Amino acid sequence: MQDKNIAVGITGGIAAYKACELVSRLKKMGANVKVAMTRNATEFVTPLTLQSLSGNPVVTGMFDRPAQWEIEHIALAKWAQVFVVVPTTANLIGKLAAGIADDFLSTTLLATRAPIYLAPAMNTQMYTHPVVQANMRKLREMGVRFIEPATGRLACGDVGPGKLAEIDAIVAALEEAFQRVRDYADCRILITAGPTREAIDPVRYLSNHSSGKMGYALAQAAVRRGGAVTLVSGPVALEPPAGLEELVRVESADDMYQAVIQRYPDQDIVIMAAAVADYKPKILSGQKIKKTAEPLVIEFVKNIDILAELGKSKTHQKLIGFAAETENLEEYARTKLIRKNLDLIVANDLTQEGAGFGVDTNIVKLIDRSGKTEDVPLMSKADLGDLVLDRIKQLS
Ligand code: PMT
Repeated sequence: MQDKNIAVGITGGIAAYKACELVSRLKKMGANVKVAMTRNATEFVTPLTLQSLSGNPVVTGMFDRPAQWEIEHIALAKWAQVFVVVPTTANLIGKLAAGIADDFLSTTLLATRAPIYLAPAMNTQMYTHPVVQANMRKLREMGVRFIEPATGRLACGDVGPGKLAEIDAIVAALEEAFQRVRDYADCRILITAGPTREAIDPVRYLSNHSSGKMGYALAQAAVRRGGAVTLVSGPVALEPPAGLEELVRVESADDMYQAVIQRYPDQDIVIMAAAVADYKPKILSGQKIKKTAEPLVIEFVKNIDILAELGKSKTHQKLIGFAAETENLEEYARTKLIRKNLDLIVANDLTQEGAGFGVDTNIVKLIDRSGKTEDVPLMSKADLGDLVLDRIKQLS
């Protein structure tokens, strides 16, 4: 943390006093800390306290010093290497998700390009409210990271999720953030995401349930960490991350193969997170197949195995595959790791609650070519994206 620039935002929750301990800890670790408070936060803890602890002037409201605020909020946005908001209220989450900038803190959060970490703290009923959860999902998809609240007895007497994460956990998340700042700056990385569609006729196709969230989370993390990221995406309903070097939209496995193989020589890393169809119809009907009294029988033939082809022609690249299974997860994943000449495989059991298709979380087993296995518990696909990139960095 030595000499790192950390902006600490404080919003108006009962846990605001804990921000004092965080600022004090970060200062003791050698970090430079600047604090921005909402007006409501000043009802819980005084700016003077934070000024004393941080050793820097504290900015509150928007128009304390109108002459300077434009300079101050842009300056803070640029100065910060990491931005953490402790505690984060439902109000701040909603404003950030909606792009509302009606005070200094919300304005600066929109202006900064530093990684943003939010540590929510609120009543359980609020935290679990669908609109708060939807706002958090939207922010996660944009690369905002959450330091999940603890579960326990809250100030209001309720018991459940919503208690501010321990200061140790917040400090650990910030230390991890600094390990990840631009550590992919010299890296060219191609990621595939989403399903493929195998046409049967001009109207019908065969596909699967992939939403693209896993691949997009990996791409988001790689962009944030400075990588030159090419995202090859099947048809999904997600906004691509900002800052990609190239976005290539494809439909079929053959399209995806062409898009990947021609870019492969220029890549340092390829991560095949896409759910590529293993089969396609032997015959593609030029006309819509008309209904008859007879059953419709379609013969399918195998698609090209893109990952296996990449494994055969691997030179300097690191090659990472996924394994989507419903049984024998480790055995099948190990087989794919070896057979496809991978450096790492990310295996997920699609039958597990909170894992696999469509959800914002995943539960995986990581296996590298040395045979090292790591069980990763349920976590957001955003956090898993960073973890997979951490593990790729650690590959020998
Ligand atoms: O997109 P989400 O909704 O977030 O869901 C995420 C996910 C479940 C799709 C993802 O976590 C995942 O498991 N992706 C891989 C799905 C898949 O095709 O797994 P597989 O075990 O069938 O294939 C093994 C590997 O070979 C994969 O890396 C796949 O990209 C690749 N493959 C498969 C078939 C094929 N013809 N060519 C390939 O390259």
